[in-house]
Amino acid sequence: MTTALGAIDLLTGYQAAAALTAASRLGIFDLTAGVPATAGQIATALGTDPGGTLSLLDSLVGLGLLERMDSRYAATALSARLGSAGDLRPVAEKEAFFARAWLDLADTVRTGRPRIAAWEERLVTDPDQCRDFLRALVVLATETGPDLAALVEPGARVVDLGGGLGSYAVPLARAGAEVRLIDLPAVAEWAGEELAAAPGITVEAVDLTGPGALAALGPGSADVALVSHLLHDYDDIALRLLRLAREVVREGGTVIVFELPGDPGEGDLEAFGPMFDLMMRVETPGRARRVEELIDLLLAAGFSSVERTGHPLPHAVLLAR
Ligand SMILES: C[S@@+](CC[C@H](N)C(=O)[O-])C[C@H]1O[C@@H](n2cnc3c(N)ncnc32)[C@H](O)[C@@H]1O
Repeated sequence: MTTALGAIDLLTGYQAAAALTAASRLGIFDLTAGVPATAGQIATALGTDPGGTLSLLDSLVGLGLLERMDSRYAATALSARLGSAGDLRPVAEKEAFFARAWLDLADTVRTGRPRIAAWEERLVTDPDQCRDFLRALVVLATETGPDLAALVEPGARVVDLGGGLGSYAVPLARAGAEVRLIDLPAVAEWAGEELAAAPGITVEAVDLTGPGALAALGPGSADVALVSHLLHDYDDIALRLLRLAREVVREGGTVIVFELPGDPGEGDLEAFGPMFDLMMRVETPGRARRVEELIDLLLAAGFSSVERTGHPLPHAVLLAR
């Protein structure tokens, strides 16, 4: 049961996220990654307001993201990863972008409509944000994702449907799979650039919802099809995508579906699944289905057996044969 103070903490929770994003954008983590500097030196170097800079620096110390030694501030190993070249920087930008839409959550719940333009449209109007978003997914897969490579035999032919910038293609290929990463043309071009040096991965541009998708992929051409974080982007089309995945794998092959389902978890994870579902509803025309619904969807797509692996919530990894 949350107390009044707990509710106030929840309502002001955006402030810590905003402090982190501001510091990342202003270059504070770059500047403090080398020689520790005073607040005055940092404000001068960044051309920022001295009072605001001092409070931001002290807030970051309190949040565990900077260290203060006498009157000088230094980045930690973690906060350096939020610097301009840091791998966590795209995550900061992803969340800052979506935070604006979350302020209109009541509208999404009222109308059932997302607050953000469709992905295909954003790929044209805001490609930099889309690429950053996909880079953030690679980091999130590395930091929080399940070990999907453990489910695949070395040498297996894997087709990664909607593979983004290689969140799972990279670990699968490292484990010895031959991976074909499939995505929309704009994303396939970026993936081709970013994964050019990655052995074991080929990138192909195919619109999985287009009429020629199965012919382009090749019926029965894969031992394993991976469908990771794709179904939640779609409502009705999800069933069609699973039927396509079924036809792409050979007889006796496996389709691996990885989703963060909408089910409430336990303890600290109780709100995670439902909140993730809200995230999908705000950001996409889809939703985070619950585990039972995912299993029913796979059975409706024509699979004869569906097994859930032992990965606990917030993950659901389903093996369909
Ligand atoms: C949420 S991302 C997931 C990326 C990656 N699979 C992962 O788990 O991190 C969804 C990906 O599916 C791709 N995608 C969405 N619709 C698609 C379509 N119709 N054809 C091909 N790719 C599509 C998007 O471009 C994006 O890269």
